[in-house]
Amino acid sequence: AIKSHIDKPIVLVGLMGVGKSTIGRRLASRLGMPFVDSDDEIEAAAGMKVGELFEHYGEDYFRDGERRVIARLIEGPPKVIATGGGAFVQEETRELVLKVATAVWLNADIDVLAERVSRRDTRPLVRDLDPKMVLTELAEKRNPFYSQAPIHVQSGDGAHDETVDRILEALA
Ligand code: S3P
Repeated sequence: AIKSHIDKPIVLVGLMGVGKSTIGRRLASRLGMPFVDSDDEIEAAAGMKVGELFEHYGEDYFRDGERRVIARLIEGPPKVIATGGGAFVQEETRELVLKVATAVWLNADIDVLAERVSRRDTRPLVRDLDPKMVLTELAEKRNPFYSQAPIHVQSGDGAHDETVDRILEALA
């Protein structure tokens, strides 16, 4: 029943650690839609991890690939797309997403994000810095962009399924 209402891609945006990939995968399965993750697509296309791309070619090169990957993913049959935390901050990507997709801003308290980010060391923007400090700065810079998404959903530190339910309610 929900499925028939959805004729546009759903694009999850928000800071690293908020759960875009996990929540996106579950949301897609609830909606009977395909799921893709832009970071995974970039890694597959480049044959390299995001961290290696940043290290060897720099952030601008990564952003360029990210923009092209998202433009491609947004075409075709509607799907749920999880994006890297910086994607929606890039003007061209943001404008495209706002025009042809339904953007959902997933947000959570900085402490929740920092705890999740500190469990892995795959994020080049954090490296050996303090995750809470990095995330606080990124939130300040990026929240004005994320807030342009038409749907805002707060994610707690509890079950991701509750967050999925909130997104489904907002989409209905
Ligand atoms: C980034 C977030 C990462 C990844 C890259 C840059 C960012 O994705 O795209 O490390 O600029 O916030 P996640 O949000 O999935 O961690």
